[in-house]
Amino acid sequence: MSKKAIGIFDSGLGGLTILKALRRTLPHENLIYFGDSANVPYGSKSKQTVTRFSIDIARFLESQGVKMIVVACNTASALALPTLRKQCHVPVIGVIEPGAKKAAASTKNGRIAVLGTEGTVKSNAYATAILKYTPHARIKQQSCPLFVPLVEENWTKKPAALLIAQDYLSSVRRHRADTVILGCTHYPVLKKVIAHVLGPKVTLIDSAQTVAQAVQTFLRENNIQETVGKGKLTVYASDDPARFKRLATHLLADKIATVYLKKLNA
Ligand code: DGL
Repeated sequence: MSKKAIGIFDSGLGGLTILKALRRTLPHENLIYFGDSANVPYGSKSKQTVTRFSIDIARFLESQGVKMIVVACNTASALALPTLRKQCHVPVIGVIEPGAKKAAASTKNGRIAVLGTEGTVKSNAYATAILKYTPHARIKQQSCPLFVPLVEENWTKKPAALLIAQDYLSSVRRHRADTVILGCTHYPVLKKVIAHVLGPKVTLIDSAQTVAQAVQTFLRENNIQETVGKGKLTVYASDDPARFKRLATHLLADKIATVYLKKLNA
């Protein structure tokens, strides 16, 4: 049993899809979410830059006394996880491994597609992880850089979202993938549009629930799971907390009391 919080971070709003699953699975845990709204998007930035942002955030979360950190961002998981694990004093869980494992278990025709940011796709982190579980898989990776601003601007229901999705997903359709990983935590917010373009026969892998389960297993195994009381949520953003609060409230479909401003390196 531990009153210490779980720290979660993303470049912006996308990690809230993981936060949602964590709250459902672990209702007694205190959670601290950090959205790096000053630096979003991470997807088009270098490994060095994403690693620097990730370490700054992890240090801040550690200063808040968290018992573990969930990197609710595929780009940061793909580019910065080993460094984070080396530099943090608490355990760090990423989002790539659980999604890759789930996709490998789901595919019937061995054709898997990964949708991710440019950084995630370039890193090959998903392909490497998938091939560990299913060595003969045929993998198509597609970066979808415009998906992140669509989510950050709350444009997911506009016709532009459908047009952009049709363009990005044409290569996935040609690949005849039966399983498609939503390899960026922003993309589940566009799930309806993606599912509409790919059709009902394609399984979409949203790793939020799998990640929440992995966190639960870790807490149980280490006997640090909180089992009583209602967990408290604290949210920080590195820029414009009022805007972050408005969009996050909409995305979570739940009230957030306050979003605090925390500038990195300030
Ligand atoms: N949501 C993040 C991810 O999972 C980052 C997207 C971005 O900032 O480009 O990759």
